[in-house]
Amino acid sequence: MVYSVTNRDETKKYIADELRSAKELLRALSLDIDKTECGRDFKKFNEVVGFCEQILRIFETTPQNKENVFLDCSCGKSYLSFALNYILSKRFSFVTFFYGVDSNSVLIDRCEQIKNSLGYENMQFVHAKIIDVIPEKPIDIVISLHACDTATDETIAKGIKLGAKYIIVVPCCENQIRNRLKDGHPLVGLTEFGLLRYRFADILTEALRAQFLTGTGYVVKLVEITSPRNTPKNLMIVARKKKGNKEFNLDEYNKLNEMFHTEFILKDYFQLEKS
Ligand SMILES: C[S@@+](CC[C@H](N)C(=O)[O-])C[C@H]1O[C@@H](n2cnc3c(N)ncnc32)[C@H](O)[C@@H]1O
Repeated sequence: MVYSVTNRDETKKYIADELRSAKELLRALSLDIDKTECGRDFKKFNEVVGFCEQILRIFETTPQNKENVFLDCSCGKSYLSFALNYILSKRFSFVTFFYGVDSNSVLIDRCEQIKNSLGYENMQFVHAKIIDVIPEKPIDIVISLHACDTATDETIAKGIKLGAKYIIVVPCCENQIRNRLKDGHPLVGLTEFGLLRYRFADILTEALRAQFLTGTGYVVKLVEITSPRNTPKNLMIVARKKKGNKEFNLDEYNKLNEMFHTEFILKDYFQLEKS
């Protein structure tokens, strides 16, 4: 069966209902979503549902019998991968495989235990830095939910290097360029105010990531996965690899980077000339 995504709210409701009724999964993940409507578990649940909804859009046109391999970067407790595995593999019978990578060995051990308790054999968890991981299988879809700070950039770089068909990230905190925005650029009238500088740094960071992905051969769109009332960290970058595009063209990225002297980290993961 090929899933048809007609209405975002309906799809989210469908996913939420399916996950709510997956009691064994929720118990294994220790996700208590009925505790309180504004609690941490409920917020995480909504983020995961919003993320799954975007992934289902991609699977609308994906054949069920071809294996799709995910790499979940900064997987943490892997709520996202376990939920995606449940929805895609158990509910829609897609053939999937999930790698989860995290630099915290305690979390990786815990993910392995959960995987074993659920009998999910199509998952493997790796203790490593994102940029260092070398998956055995070719990766189709790189995902990341709230990878801290530059771990999102490691995720994007890793996805490009692996030639992933999709790179889909919901970034977390954007600390890298905030302090560089105090002076020396055309918008100092905006960034002299602390709160505006904070917000502008977030926007500029996501624009740099989106331009870098565009310049390395991806079609990029930005969407919100949940209401900002659930979390302000609700922006998702969806990047789909264009066919046959091999050359990097980072002119737009370089322009932004130079305008704000950001010395943004993404280029550092590649052997590229510094502009
Ligand atoms: C805020 S948690 C998010 C975890 C999970 N994705 C979630 O949504 O619950 C960030 C995770 O990133 C991991 N991390 C940070 N930097 C990393 C890196 N360079 N490589 C791998 N994991 C990293 C941390 O160990 C932590 O588990």
